[in-house]
Amino acid sequence: MSKSAQDLLSPWKRTGSQFAEALVTWYRSHRRDWPWRTKFVEHGDPYYVWVSEIMLQQTTIQAVLPAYHRFLDNFPNLFRLSQGTEDQIRQACRGLGYYRRFRMLHEAAKVLTAGMRSEQDPVPWPRDFISWKALPGIGDYTAAAIASIAFGVPKAVVDGNVERVFCRLFNLQVVPDQKWKKVFQGVGDTLIPHDAPSDFNQGLMELGQAICIKQNPKCSICPVQNFCEAYAKGTQALAPAAKNKMVFEELRIHLFIVEKRGRLGLLQRKPSAKFLKGSWSFPNAIEASDQSLLWETDRIRVGDAKRLGVVKHGITKHKLEVVVSKVDVDEDYPGMRWFGEDEVEEALVSNMDRKALRLFLKVREKTPLDVYFS
Ligand code: ADE
Ligand code: SF4
Repeated sequence: MSKSAQDLLSPWKRTGSQFAEALVTWYRSHRRDWPWRTKFVEHGDPYYVWVSEIMLQQTTIQAVLPAYHRFLDNFPNLFRLSQGTEDQIRQACRGLGYYRRFRMLHEAAKVLTAGMRSEQDPVPWPRDFISWKALPGIGDYTAAAIASIAFGVPKAVVDGNVERVFCRLFNLQVVPDQKWKKVFQGVGDTLIPHDAPSDFNQGLMELGQAICIKQNPKCSICPVQNFCEAYAKGTQALAPAAKNKMVFEELRIHLFIVEKRGRLGLLQRKPSAKFLKGSWSFPNAIEASDQSLLWETDRIRVGDAKRLGVVKHGITKHKLEVVVSKVDVDEDYPGMRWFGEDEVEEALVSNMDRKALRLFLKVREKTPLDVYFS
């Protein structure tokens, strides 16, 4: 039942450019003036776009706003960022979690500024989609966003929001998967006008965020209503199709953040572990039905563990409730490796462990030191 971008667009031969025009016109009069938009328009420095796209990868616009200003106050341009220390960067992006993407941004900054001697030298910016994608930390979406917004490259952005918009425009009552993503990339790349790639892409983003929302899309004020097959047929609620609900096994995992003099201890999950065998993780165990602990890593002593909270995580057919606790230790465990806080995220493979790490960092940020150490 899979279709190609050409199949979808064959009835659009004459209307494709009208669609783009409607979207772009609407965006130009309705766009929200996010600081990354105004700063780039005022100063023309692609750095402003880049920093925003990295922040927006995994964080909501509202949470990005304060961090964006703080980051730019500390690192006003790419050269200054490349000269920053890891510690300064971690400080500047605190509260955003997923520190890894900023490490990669830092690395990319060093690569690009390698031949510069001062911040007055011109930055040798990549100018096309492929060169952006080649930099650390930049995937399809981010490369398309930066290349189109800052360099006018006609490459469409396709994320979950855009997939939903396309499903509705073409009345596709399917669950969008990787194959559909490719199809939608083709659709977007065909429709994007070469004279307004930035406004088309940001218009698509804005449409998905503010109008063609998941529940009850605002079709009555939609700028592309005339082009929308789901609207014409009244099937907005069916396109895209809902993911079929799987039956999940629910499990509780106990995960222990082990700290010794500011360093965090990781163990490898055992070959017999149920999840993620062999990966480095915080010591953890599955709670059996009789409430005994089935260790996924080697066992540690948890007598004086302090409970920090619970995070939820899904792996394949399991819904995990992960109880995160903290244990202070003096001794070493065989096989345990100790990591500084900024190294530990890199060593972790599972998002379950990263969520636990984030919870730990968050609790500590909010807890006065005297309580924390009591
Ligand atoms: N999400 C990702 N990139 C964005 C941008 N440039 N503007 C608004 N939301 C975004
Ligand atoms: Fe989405 Fe409705 Fe606009 Fe169609 S008409 S694109 S369903 S908001």
